[in-house]
Amino acid sequence: MKHTSETVQAWLGYLHVPELKALKELAASLPESSQVINLGAGAGTSGLALMESPNKLRVTTVDKQKDASPLGCLVGEETVFRSAGFWGDPRHKQIHDDSAHAGQNWLGGDIHLLFVDADHSKQSVFRDIYGWIDHMAPGSIIAFHDYRSDGHWPEVRQVVDQEMRGYEVILHIDGLGAFRVPERTLHITGYPRSGNTWAITLFRQAVGDQFRVRKSHQRRDEFTPEPNDLVLHIRRDPRDVLISIMHYRGLPFDRAFARLQGADGMPYLTIEASWDGASTVNYEDLSHGPEVTLSAALGDLQISPSRSRTIADAVAWSSFDTTLQRFPERKGAMWQGKVGSWKRELTRRQAQQFDEVFGAYLRAEGYADEGWWEELP
Ligand SMILES: C[S@@+](CC[C@H](N)C(=O)[O-])C[C@H]1O[C@@H](n2cnc3c(N)ncnc32)[C@H](O)[C@@H]1O
Repeated sequence: MKHTSETVQAWLGYLHVPELKALKELAASLPESSQVINLGAGAGTSGLALMESPNKLRVTTVDKQKDASPLGCLVGEETVFRSAGFWGDPRHKQIHDDSAHAGQNWLGGDIHLLFVDADHSKQSVFRDIYGWIDHMAPGSIIAFHDYRSDGHWPEVRQVVDQEMRGYEVILHIDGLGAFRVPERTLHITGYPRSGNTWAITLFRQAVGDQFRVRKSHQRRDEFTPEPNDLVLHIRRDPRDVLISIMHYRGLPFDRAFARLQGADGMPYLTIEASWDGASTVNYEDLSHGPEVTLSAALGDLQISPSRSRTIADAVAWSSFDTTLQRFPERKGAMWQGKVGSWKRELTRRQAQQFDEVFGAYLRAEGYADEGWWEELP
C-alpha cells in the first residue's frame, strides 16, 4: 500500500482527522518553498502532511529517537516516506537530536512554520519554544499539537497559554493551536555579558505578542534593522562586564581585560560609542527596579504592553530563579551578575589598571568618580 498522511492517520491515529486537515490548511497557506520544522517524527503523519502540500515546502523533522519505539521515531517516518515516495526527496531532512537542542544549534535560516509535537512535559514545551523562536520569520506560524481545552495534556496548555498569550490565534481546532509570530522586531543590542539574554526574556514576556525580540552584539554601523523595527541598547558598567567575562569564560583578569579592550575583535568602548544617542537602558537600573525600568523603556519606545501581558508578570517570569527552573542546564553558564561584583573581585592594582583604560568612560557615564579604585583592598 502506498501511504499518505490520511492512511497513516487512520492506521495509528497520532493526529485526529480535523487536526490533520487543519495542519494541511496551514501548510497550504504558506508561500512556495517555505521552511517548516516538524518537532517529533512519531509515525510520520505530520511529516507526510507537510510534504504533500502543493506548495513544495522544505520540511525538517527532528526526533531524539532514531530506531523503532512505540512512541514514534525517525525510522518510523522513513518507512512511511519510502512508501509515499518522499524518502530521499531533497525537500526533506531529518535531524536526530533533542528537539530544543536542535533549535539552539539551527543554522538553516528563517522558519515559516514550526509544528511542536515532541515531548509534552512543561519544561520541554518551554524549551522547544525558546529553542526555536529566534529563528521564526516575521509573520510566521507556531503550531502546537495536544493544545487542548478538555484537560488532556494540561502542561502543554499551561505553557502555550503563558508564552503565546496575546498572539494572533490563527486557528484552534481540536488539539491543534496555531499562532502568528509578529511582523515587527524589537532588537536588544548590547556588548556581550551585559544582560542581553535576561533582557530579551523580559521584553519577550512583556511585548512578545507585538514584536519578535532579538538580541545583537553588533556595532551600530554594522546593524541594519528593517524600517519598522525598534532598537533598544542595553549598557552595563564595564567593571561588571569584566567580572562576568572572567566567570563565564573562566579567564584570569589579564585575558578578560584584553578581551574587553577588543582582543577578540569586540572592543567595549568602540561598541558603546557607536550606540551613543540610541534608546538605552542601563543594566543597573533594570536590576534595581525592573518593573519601573521596563515600563520606562517601553514608554521611550512608544510601546504599550497588550492587555494580556503585565509588566509584573514579565518580571516575575524572567527572574534568575524562574529561568533556571526552565533551563536547569544553564546552571553555571548563567551567572547571576550582581551589580557591583567588581568590588569583591578586583584587587586595587587591577582596578587601577582598569582605570587607566576605562577611567574617562566610567566618569563620563557616571559609573565612578576619580580615584574609585583607591577604596579597594
Ligand atoms: C506524538 S509523537 C509525534 C507524532 C507526529 N507528529 C505524527 O504526526 O505522527 C512524539 C515524538 O516526539 C519524539 N520526542 C519526544 N521527546 C523528544 C525530544 N525531547 N526531542 C525530540 N524528539 C522527541 C518521540 O520520539 C516521538 O517520535
